[in-house]
Amino acid sequence: MRDHFEVGRYDAAGRLGELTVPRAGVTVETPALLPVVNPHVQTIEPSTLASEFGAEILITNSYILHQSDDLREPAERQGLHELLDFPGAIMTDSGSFQLAEYGEIDVTTEEILAFQREIGSDIGTPVDIPTPPDVARERAESELATTQERLEIADGVDTGEMLTTAPIQGSTYPDLRERAAEHAHGTDLDVFPVGAVVPLMNEYRYDDLADVVAACKRGLGEDAPVHLFGAGHPMMFAMAVALGCDLFDSAAYALYARDGRYLTVRGTEHLDDMDYFPCSCPVCVEYEPADLRAMDDQRGEDLLARHNLHVTYGEIRTIKQAIRDGDLMELVDSRARAHPTMLDGYRTLLDHAEQLETTDRIAKDTVFHTSTESARRPEVVRHHQRLDRFDLSGSILLTEGERDEEYDESWQVTPPFGPYPREMSDAYPFTAEVPERLSPQAYETAADGVARLAECNPDATVTLAQFEWPESALARVPDSVTVRHLGED
Ligand code: GUN
Repeated sequence: MRDHFEVGRYDAAGRLGELTVPRAGVTVETPALLPVVNPHVQTIEPSTLASEFGAEILITNSYILHQSDDLREPAERQGLHELLDFPGAIMTDSGSFQLAEYGEIDVTTEEILAFQREIGSDIGTPVDIPTPPDVARERAESELATTQERLEIADGVDTGEMLTTAPIQGSTYPDLRERAAEHAHGTDLDVFPVGAVVPLMNEYRYDDLADVVAACKRGLGEDAPVHLFGAGHPMMFAMAVALGCDLFDSAAYALYARDGRYLTVRGTEHLDDMDYFPCSCPVCVEYEPADLRAMDDQRGEDLLARHNLHVTYGEIRTIKQAIRDGDLMELVDSRARAHPTMLDGYRTLLDHAEQLETTDRIAKDTVFHTSTESARRPEVVRHHQRLDRFDLSGSILLTEGERDEEYDESWQVTPPFGPYPREMSDAYPFTAEVPERLSPQAYETAADGVARLAECNPDATVTLAQFEWPESALARVPDSVTVRHLGED
């Protein structure tokens, strides 16, 4: 059991948690954002990250410091916290990203971990190999074997109070990712980044990203804090959290600002094309797009970066509140409309609804059925699984005295959940708010629930609630089931 990470509430596989970082003497609330600080180019100063944005943790790159003639000695002498002037927790990367970009680096896991410890890093990282997507399986396997050797080396290094990450690789092979995650979880390492997903995000492959994260999560225990390496754009955070990611680093706020790009949770705008700022952060309240365009490049870029970071932190708070309220899936559903590839990501996430169901809360607020995809939510999957467990009829949930002759052996059926004992219609999740104009899929899912019920209760009598049941749904109800319509004698 990893005692530095405590999970509170769940919603799907998303969770509110607390990561205790002993060397920094702080506890970080998760999901958490780690702004990326480039030691050479500080678009927003780390002290401002803390004071203006409430940053509890940031990430910087120890390899850049290690290789720098100007910064290495001050980092060793003063320590990272003083060098960067940041009071919170500091995580450091190892140079693996540079390895992926430039093909080689000249430092070993032992050397870089010793350096990270020496400069006062609170969470260090070994030199994993970020294997890109779609490579031949042989390459993914052999690079993973090297990454695993390095994790074992890291596991044997005395890092004192510094926590150490165990990056999970395996390219786009779900079985390798799952196996890599199991291996990482079997070490005594502390934080588990999903690695080499930047190319997937750069290419908008959110469907493949969902498969990769889901596979990693299968190999990890629930006590493992999960970091998504290089997750930049806030529009995908809700989806990543719902899949079970706890930590995100983001360089996007600065990189996008450099190109004059303005982040929103619905995508990206170009400052040159904007007449209005649709946001209420301090930058957008004080300035209009034309003001920023009229400024010298550096000042405009800095203000754009501040806006981008405000939006990013705002989305993290929105996600945390959604988990608290139990409506994270509604948030994911709405974010999925930002881009067709996000919708692909969401649909792929729902392919893993059974996995997400295992941690979903037993009862939450009213489910809002807001889209065709809502019919595939973990709550619906859970109900269908439970139908298997009913041995005879709804009567097992009722005492004899409560049974109503007219509805004895009868199940009420509403889309998308399907059959449930009529007496439970005021109970979660059957209180779901659904629109009157439902998609055929919602009815079909309900009918699939009836078919599921019929597997253990072939002679069930079901009462369809007052909706316009399409033929495509009625055709899925097994012949052995007696179907009545509400209001029928
Ligand atoms: N930054 C972005 N991706 C990666 C990765 O796979 N490994 C490490 N160490 N850093 C990263």
